[in-house]
Amino acid sequence: MSGPAVRFYDYFPPSDSFRLEVLEGLSSSPKRIAPKFFYDTRGSQLFEAICSLPEYYLTRAETEILTVRAREISDLIGPGCLLIELGSGGSHKVRLLLEALQPAAYLPMDISRDHLLRAARRLSAEYPWLEVHATCIDYSRKLDLPYCPNGARKIAFFPGSSIGNFEPEDTVAFLRNVAQMLQANGALLIGVDLKKDAKILHAAYNDSRGVTAQFNLNLLARINREMEGRFILDDFEHSAFYNETQGRIEMHLTSHRQQTVQVGAQRFGFARGETVHTENSYKYGLDEFQDLARRAGFRPVRAWSDSQGLFSVHYLNAESR
Ligand SMILES: C[S@@+](CC[C@H](N)C(=O)[O-])C[C@H]1O[C@@H](n2cnc3c(N)ncnc32)[C@H](O)[C@@H]1O
Repeated sequence: MSGPAVRFYDYFPPSDSFRLEVLEGLSSSPKRIAPKFFYDTRGSQLFEAICSLPEYYLTRAETEILTVRAREISDLIGPGCLLIELGSGGSHKVRLLLEALQPAAYLPMDISRDHLLRAARRLSAEYPWLEVHATCIDYSRKLDLPYCPNGARKIAFFPGSSIGNFEPEDTVAFLRNVAQMLQANGALLIGVDLKKDAKILHAAYNDSRGVTAQFNLNLLARINREMEGRFILDDFEHSAFYNETQGRIEMHLTSHRQQTVQVGAQRFGFARGETVHTENSYKYGLDEFQDLARRAGFRPVRAWSDSQGLFSVHYLNAESR
């Protein structure tokens, strides 16, 4: 028999938010589109494929940390919490914690509605004792909690180094919202990619099978599907590089030639070599990230890294304000 039904809360932004933000981003100079729009159902599937690529060390390193530290993490958190996962995707990494942690309920939050629902149903079938409250939300806009069992400690789990997609100043503002949602007794368990040799970073975002390129180009395919766009995917190329000064990987879609592309009723001109900036992925030293977290109202308690020193997981207490 399967477990309790998954409760579903839809806080998805209005359907025109993708359209409006894309039109605004293509009209700006330089052109840019936020990485949250990678994740339609196809984008979420491609991201899952990226996670098992040999070059994509992030998932392996974070999985190692969570596996080795599951008991220690559970002792810090204690049983019976409300476990809120931000950007839960396929809800894979949380499985490393559930048995040891025994939360009162699990609340996965993600922008990719169908992927979220499927993942929540799979998890619920696998862990019939667990209450699952799936919430479709754009966490960069608001962070509303639809449910919390009485008196449960609120713990946010934010793996995958998605925090690196925010600009450093926006990181502080976002973490402040998280701290506010968690309240004084809460805590945040967050995966943060570390600064490292640019060659390792370059390989991770330019895999030899071209899956990351497909993931990036899917954004144009999504615009074609959902906004009557006329992008010819072969006219654009994935490019990703480490910007050492900024401490971030940048992903772009580069136009091979001068061209005009119709999107709905609008037309956008591209010079040869012009790019649409689609993602930043900031990398942080341990202290550098803890300083940002402190500014947002968290007290660093523990930080772990994997055996190769590639990735970090921080445990931070939300301070009372
Ligand atoms: C880099 S993936 C990480 C997935 C998974 N947590 C992991 O660690 O492998 C980012 C996830 O966050 C979700 N996401 C991205 N931006 C979001 C936003 N603004 N609001 C809610 N979810 C978002 C995506 O749909 C995706 O599942």
